[in-house]
Amino acid sequence: MLLPIADFADLSANWYKILDPLLAKARVELWLYCPKTAEPMISGNKWMKLQYHIKLIQQQQYRGFVTFGGAFSNHLAASAAAAELFGIPATAYVRADSIDQQNPTLQFCLAKGMTLIATDRQTYRRRQQSDFLELLALRHPDCLIIPEGGSSALGVRGIAGLNLNDTPAGPADVIATATASGGTLAGIISASKQQNTGTAQTQILGLAVVNDASLPAKIKALLKAKADHQAPWRIIATAPDQRYARCAAEHIDFCCKFALSHNIALEPVYTGRALFKLYQMIAAGEFAPGSRISFFHTGGLQGLAGLYYRQLINQQQYQILSAATVG
Ligand SMILES: Cc1ncc(COP(=O)(O)O)c(C=O)c1O
Repeated sequence: MLLPIADFADLSANWYKILDPLLAKARVELWLYCPKTAEPMISGNKWMKLQYHIKLIQQQQYRGFVTFGGAFSNHLAASAAAAELFGIPATAYVRADSIDQQNPTLQFCLAKGMTLIATDRQTYRRRQQSDFLELLALRHPDCLIIPEGGSSALGVRGIAGLNLNDTPAGPADVIATATASGGTLAGIISASKQQNTGTAQTQILGLAVVNDASLPAKIKALLKAKADHQAPWRIIATAPDQRYARCAAEHIDFCCKFALSHNIALEPVYTGRALFKLYQMIAAGEFAPGSRISFFHTGGLQGLAGLYYRQLINQQQYQILSAATVG
């Protein structure tokens, strides 16, 4: 049965206050915002980034959509789940030499009926170039092309609909999130102006999980039409050498301890890595005592199975992270 789009997400009452000796010592309040959806695979930032694409497909009667992602991409898993739920044929160009049928993310996408096309790195790099997009439009007539990560103007608009500023204890001084393709951060920035009341401005922190010198330019391009909407924002590297597949032991350890202490699941590629960096900043006294931080839990937990499959986390770590019930 297909789900009416309006019933899909419940964005209320998803705040969790984190109580921790480090936070108490620094006198910093930390709130996690964990949006819930009817389908766990479309969790975190994924539904917000996809929803206006789905609406456009339905309104303009596109035949389907085409999108892009790595072989363990959260965006691909979420897109495949949404495609099945809303009855939309979907094709994905996957950055991989071949489609590994044992890969849990790709297995899930195939089970949801998504067509997967293995794409070598050189071709994949062309995914935003206009000549390549023209070719795809010919190859997939009447299909909407959704950029990697869902980071388009529509994705930004979806994220901007979230109110990450008003925690249950009052307005946040800082809003932080993991950032990769930039759509989530751009959405938070574009929402922030309406939420600022003219007193001290909320700071927005993008905790970058990959080394990408072009990220600030990408975010500015996504914000272009709304240049007057910019609250102060910064991008902060989470580690000196950041690659998606690299899972540092300290990030995995942090995620496990966090899951055991708070019953909130993180994964070490996005949310765990970002929150680890935020904790380091808090410990270093980078936030004034009395600060209230809102952290957007962007989901991505489907990626845990892929980390275990590649033996980047061991069985015990996988069990601890999968057992936490929030996230
Ligand atoms: C779990 C998770 N968190 C954060 C991000 C970063 O979001 P963005 O690509 O919009 O910067 C992603 C990628 O979409 C993700 O999968």
